[in-house]
Formats: sequence, structure tokens, C-alpha cells
Amino acid sequence: MLNKKPDDIRDSEITDKHLYLNRRSFMRGAALAATTVGTGLLYRRLNPPPAETPKGEKFSGFAKPTSEAGLGAGFTVNEKLTPLEDIINYNNFYEFSTDKGSVASESKGFLTKPWTVSVEGLVNKPRTFDLDELLSFPLEERVYRLRCVEGWSMVIPWIGFPLARLLEEVEPTEQARYVAFQTLYDPKRMPNQRTGVLDWPYVEGLRLDEAKHPLTILATGLYGETLPPQDGAPIRLVVPWKYGFKSIKSIVKIQLGADEPPATWNIQAPNEYGFYSNVNPNVPHPRWSQARERRIGEFRMRETLMFNGYGEQVAHLYAGMDLKRYF
Ligand code: MTE
Repeated sequence: MLNKKPDDIRDSEITDKHLYLNRRSFMRGAALAATTVGTGLLYRRLNPPPAETPKGEKFSGFAKPTSEAGLGAGFTVNEKLTPLEDIINYNNFYEFSTDKGSVASESKGFLTKPWTVSVEGLVNKPRTFDLDELLSFPLEERVYRLRCVEGWSMVIPWIGFPLARLLEEVEPTEQARYVAFQTLYDPKRMPNQRTGVLDWPYVEGLRLDEAKHPLTILATGLYGETLPPQDGAPIRLVVPWKYGFKSIKSIVKIQLGADEPPATWNIQAPNEYGFYSNVNPNVPHPRWSQARERRIGEFRMRETLMFNGYGEQVAHLYAGMDLKRYF
């Protein structure tokens, strides 16, 4: 990421096969949303997709989120999904490779069981959750835009649950103001951690109000399936109004604290990557503009939207802040 120019993006063509796959998966996702979301049995209950799309059927988007957090329009985008093939073959996951096209093969067979996530720090009820406990939170399907700081974007149908739900379980104390996240450190399983390309483990952070925002989810799947290793299995953060690098993968630890925690890319190059890293077309990266982006699978460039298009939901979190200073 550090050395790549934003235009250094593989041209990804949408073939008929891709469209077919996309459509089938879309149907599978829609069926899933209607049948199993909320049951926690997602991974054991996937049905084969319908053989054919009913003729003339219009796809109006996935089922609305089912949570009681007052979610509705604006939380799930109704845009053309990025083909699954692209989502799982074009990845940033430096623990496996710095080459986006090699992460899938390098992470193949990554062992995610057993897996635990400890939630600790300034909380009344610190606790270590094992994966099955996390998967028993009511799962929702959320279609989010993901905008990478490098200038490309995707539209991904995630499966997950609001981080707020997990935080409720541990009861943050009144002193807690930030949430820190940490990726697994295990060079045997994540071979690129043997190199010094980043300071390991990968760490990230959010302000507590950002972490509790209903848009912020922990994702455990995509396209109706278990999260593949290359996308951050078994559990990763997704914060859709921030650049993609805030969405830390393969999380093992979440720690609440009073002070702003360190964040990997901010440590690596503080003048290039701020703590907030809200998508902001008005604040260029020092080496390239952030005004436009390329949706993977498309050739044309799109205008990048403030807060990645989620301004209505999140702008209030930054009222009165100079976003050029707090970039
Ligand atoms: N998390 C970890 N642990 N390591 C990484 O290298 N890359 C980040 C983010 N999370 C990264 C990470 C970056 S730069 C992006 S753009 C997104 O993951 C990419 O997510 P995706 O591969 O699922 O599209």
C-alpha cells in the first residue's frame, strides 16, 4: 500500500461468468437473508442457490437489516455488487503477501479453529469469546461500499453483527473512550509476518462513539458464505465510512482504553495515514488525490463521496472538528 500509486489497479473485466456468479450469489444472499439471518446457524444451513433466476425478476436489494438498532435506508447500499471472484482474489492482507493477487493462494488453508477474541481493558465484564459464541450474535447482511486508500473501491455483501452488540456484553466503563483492535500474531500461520514489511501485529483503533455506531460491524461472512481467509477470517472489522485499512482482519483482541491507541499505517507513515482516516475527497493523500476512485470491475472513474457516501449517518460524529487536521 505504501508504495503503490492509486492507478496501479489490475483491470478486472466482468465476464458473463462473473455476472452469473454474482447473480447466483446474490440470490443465495437474498434467500439467506430471508431464512437464516438472526438464527446464528448461518454456516450450517446454507442452501444451494436456485438453478435459475426467475425470468424478469427485478433485484431491489437485500432484505433490510433486521436489528432493532433503528437501521433502515442508507445502511445497506443498493448498488451493483462487486463480483465474488474479485472480492476474493484482489486483497490487501500483508500478513500473507503484499501482492494483492497472491493473498488468496498464500492464505489458503489458514486455520481459524480454534479461535478466540478477548475483549478487555476498561470494561466491567472482560471476557474471552470463542468463535461459536461470536457467531451466535444475530447476524445481518449488510451491503457496504469499501473504499481503499489506494483509490479503488468495491461493493461487498457482508454478513456480520454490530460491534456495539459485543461491546454491550462487556460493559465499557465511563473512562473508556477508545477501542483498540489487534490481528493474530503467528508467523507460522501468517508467513509474511516473518518479514519486517510492517510492525506486527497489525493494530487499529476507533473512538468509542465510532465503534458503537450502528454502521460499524464485525463481519464473519460475505456473499452468504463463511469469510474466506483472504478477507480476514474468521472475524474482521468493517467501518464503511473510513478507508479500508481501518477494517482490520483476523481479530484476536479488542481492548478498551482512555487514550488514542496506535494504528499500524499511522505508525508506518503518520503524515500519510491519520488516526481517523475518514474517506474524504477534499483531503489528498500527500502523494495522490483522493477525489476519485475506480470501482473494481469498471473502467471509468467515479467521484469519491465524503465519508464514502455515509455522511448522513456519521457526519455528526465529527461536528466541529477540522477534518484537514484530523485526517
Ligand atoms: N488487516 C490486516 N490485519 N492486515 C492488512 O494488511 N489490509 C487493510 C484491511 N485490513 C489489512 C487489514 C486494507 S489496506 C484494506 S483496503 C482492507 O483490509 C482490504 O480488505 P479486503 O481484502 O477484504 O478487500
